[in-house]
Amino acid sequence: MKISGKTQVYGIVGYPVRHSLSPVFQNASFEYFSVDAIYVAFEVKPEDFTTAFLGLRALGVKGVNITLPFKERALELCDFLDEHAREIGAVNTIKFANRIEGYNTDWIGFLRALKDLEGDIKNKKVLVLGAGGTSKAVIYALSKEGCYVYVWNRTIQKALELAERFSIHVVSHPEDVLDDVDIIVNTTSVGLSERDPHLFDYEKIKESHTVFDVIYKRTPLLEKAIEKGAKAQDGLVMLLYQGIESFRIWTGMEVPLNVVKDSLSL
Ligand code: ATR
Repeated sequence: MKISGKTQVYGIVGYPVRHSLSPVFQNASFEYFSVDAIYVAFEVKPEDFTTAFLGLRALGVKGVNITLPFKERALELCDFLDEHAREIGAVNTIKFANRIEGYNTDWIGFLRALKDLEGDIKNKKVLVLGAGGTSKAVIYALSKEGCYVYVWNRTIQKALELAERFSIHVVSHPEDVLDDVDIIVNTTSVGLSERDPHLFDYEKIKESHTVFDVIYKRTPLLEKAIEKGAKAQDGLVMLLYQGIESFRIWTGMEVPLNVVKDSLSL
């Protein structure tokens, strides 16, 4: 695609953000539909966030994804929020129109990825590990689908706070409910590094479990799940589906999953 004076600009705002895969597959999506637009990474220092965000609008940028650590701060700057962003308390997609519109597509990315693996999840029992930003979108999605949700977090207070907002059950140890659940979802950052501790005794994973890790790689948790014959999925497809949904919000067009996958040579 040739860049001209008419080329529209989209991007992702985060800190750090240089490692992001979004520019690769979002540009592939624009190319797929021959849209005259580019998608770039904006690494913004936390102290510059408000200036940068309002500056993007002033520059006529059409839309951005928002990633760590700005998902809550961006929400505060929106003139309009969709119901999902409001309930989750975070935005990951901004559309700069006459007003600043904030959306959350993390929850739907998670849901589509989990359903690809598991099919219908209504009434399934799920253990969610972690109570941070990602956990909120995951718990929102699971609650919406009618799952029975247990949540465990290292800092139990954060899990208790989530239980005030969603109809979920806080557990003190993951192992207390392992035999009872169908699905285990890791939303913590544990597993990113080989040196990370294990969240529970992974030997206790059963073949009947489905294990979903939001981290984009095969973590020790997923390795063990695969070894045990359980269904296992990392966070990459979730990332791709959230991006597909952001793209739909910006353009009204739905790019096929295999197009974004191919752009990453998967
Ligand atoms: P994100 O937006 O990616 O969810 P976050 O909001 O910073 O990031 O949340 C990180 C999650 O990983 C939290 O649930 C955190 O647990 P605490 O609330 O106790 O901090 C969890 N986490 C990070 N390191 C951990 C570790 N070593 N053991 C257990 N949980 C950990």
